[in-house]
Amino acid sequence: MFFYIGYNANMADKLLSHYEELKAQVNFHNYRYHVLDAPVISDLEYDRLLNELKRIESDHPEWITSDSPTQRAGARPADRFEKIRHPAAILSLANAFGSDDARAWLERISKIDDRVEKAKFVVEPKIDGLSVVLHYRDGLFVQGATRGDGEVGEDITSNLRTIRAIPLKIPVQTVDDRPKTEKPSTVPRSGPPSYLVVRGEAFIPNKDFEELNRKLEEAGEKTYLNPRNTAAGSLRQLDPQLTASRPLTLLVYQIVYSEGGEVPTSQWEILEYLKALGFPTTDVAKRFNDLESAIAYTETWNEGRDSLPYEADGMVIKIDDLTLAVELGFVGKDPRGAIAFKFPAREVTTTLNDIGVAVGRTGVLTPYAVLEPVEIGGVVVERATLHNFDFIAEKDIRVGDRVLIKRAGEVIPYVIGPVVDARSGKEKSYRPPTECPACGQGVEHFEGEVAWYCVNAACPAQLVRNIEHFVSRGAMDITGLGIKIVEQLIESGLVKDVADLFALKKEQLLELEGFADKKAENLLKSLEQAKGQSLNRLLAALGIHGVGEVMAGDLSRAFGNLSALSKTSADELQQIDGLGPNIAESIVDWFSQPANQKVLKKLKAAGVWPEMQKAESGKRQGALSGLTFVVTGTLPTLSRDGVKEFIEKNGGKVTDSVSKKTSYLVLGENPGSKADKAQALGIKIINEVELRKLAGE
Ligand code: IVH
Repeated sequence: MFFYIGYNANMADKLLSHYEELKAQVNFHNYRYHVLDAPVISDLEYDRLLNELKRIESDHPEWITSDSPTQRAGARPADRFEKIRHPAAILSLANAFGSDDARAWLERISKIDDRVEKAKFVVEPKIDGLSVVLHYRDGLFVQGATRGDGEVGEDITSNLRTIRAIPLKIPVQTVDDRPKTEKPSTVPRSGPPSYLVVRGEAFIPNKDFEELNRKLEEAGEKTYLNPRNTAAGSLRQLDPQLTASRPLTLLVYQIVYSEGGEVPTSQWEILEYLKALGFPTTDVAKRFNDLESAIAYTETWNEGRDSLPYEADGMVIKIDDLTLAVELGFVGKDPRGAIAFKFPAREVTTTLNDIGVAVGRTGVLTPYAVLEPVEIGGVVVERATLHNFDFIAEKDIRVGDRVLIKRAGEVIPYVIGPVVDARSGKEKSYRPPTECPACGQGVEHFEGEVAWYCVNAACPAQLVRNIEHFVSRGAMDITGLGIKIVEQLIESGLVKDVADLFALKKEQLLELEGFADKKAENLLKSLEQAKGQSLNRLLAALGIHGVGEVMAGDLSRAFGNLSALSKTSADELQQIDGLGPNIAESIVDWFSQPANQKVLKKLKAAGVWPEMQKAESGKRQGALSGLTFVVTGTLPTLSRDGVKEFIEKNGGKVTDSVSKKTSYLVLGENPGSKADKAQALGIKIINEVELRKLAGE
């Protein structure tokens, strides 16, 4: 160990220098952890150092200075925030909504100054947080403020002190016995200016935000809407203890003002300089010789924004030469020397006009939001999911509310929650339906599930979804049966259940609108081919509650045909690995329904009656038998479906999400958050080669 604990109490001088050394060490390790995200000692060792420091401070309170790491969250709650005038205007940014806007910006400023033509550009992430201004006198953090109106902000020093990424003293002292490589690269020799004011963006990283909400949810408390609002709210708490309990951090990017010392005159060097002083700076920033390259880089982050650890609403493109940037002046509060290249918005607010209810193929009732149409990222959104009825109740979402909607990537737009402050009092609380909105029959609730179901097998809304599922690629894979045709077939009365599909005649199809010879023949051909599908596909296609592809495979191997399965008991079903009482009951229940028995009879008569070789005691055979896998990322040779097939062929099981029951996580390139979860749960992580070995290849 490279630090030293223990002292001679009689030697005050020695103790004082030991105390100073300890302080520097704790601050340094704090910097390694919260700024560099690369600690070099364990939490236990850190705590030991901190406790030692606290012990000395309790004996010698007269030694305590404001840069002691023990002084971060000591301040008492305030009655209100004092106003602080900023030493220079805290400016905003003009927006560019696309590359043409950015080019137009360059053209405009080129006309003002010739030097723009040769200018370099720095691109930085535009973090969606809260702008803060930090003051350092003789290297000590003395004051911190919000942006306010850009001229005057609020004094939130005590709150900012609780953010561990903010150095209490700069430059962050290096500890001499550390290996050379760990020292910040270019600590300026002359030290920082005697008065230095820097600006940064305070925020809550996405992962910490999710964790915070998860904990709140577990404790049955109200969750927060999004990281930005939570960060802003946390910094404006009058009690610093509350701020300290929120996972805030920050990144700095600007020197607002300095006195008594030189600072760099280019944005790129400013970032390097701030980093060398011990401030957290972004590692995403890059410098370019021309605007086109800067735009190209910006666009890569538009696509990759989900891989940033925080919410970014765009990238900032800045003229690197700050002398030039200042001389370009500003328009209102926007400097001409920089532009915010905005990413398409993903969160907007709009009015919730109504709550609708959709009936899914298994009869599950799903509430959805009927919205005042609103544009999000170039798409007009009128509907958004509300997840389930519990969600509406938990978030207290009312019809007429202004709601926050998110639409990100491929995800279906969803309601995050109501904007409670925007309520007028006219909003109406919502009550879930007691009857199915499609067929009017009563709805039911299964033990241990949040969903409500319509259990009427003849419900027309269910029938459409049922057939849609039956013919889908993962099930019977019948081509030429899109939703429109399914609806036509049901409306015309030709199809009343899935088995009716196989009784369709060419003459009947030709009578339907839009059907000509070829189309009818093609459909009949693919129906004929579907008769040869395997038992597991047919089983998965029937849409029995709880029976997905994996379970269908298990049941097929255990029973070999539908007659045997239809005669089984819940007890017998539970002999199958991973099949619990709820699903067992749902299977038995499905086969006992007269309507379903009729369907089975018709399928058999139509020749849709696949059989499978029954396996010994229903267990999967193969080297991966009894093991459950989750796959994330792209594997070198196996595709998504390929790896699933491989694992199942070898007797293993593939599931979508990581849980304690997962045996292995198979990791490929560009993995998702499943990898983090697996690591957190201590699940074994393997690659494709190891998977093949495990399977005995
Ligand atoms: S530069 C002259 N750089 O975006 C300096 N701003 O819409 C003007 N922001 O109020 C600001 N990340 O709170 C700059 N890397 C970054 C930023 C950034 C986030 C925020 C900042 C500002 C807002 C402007």
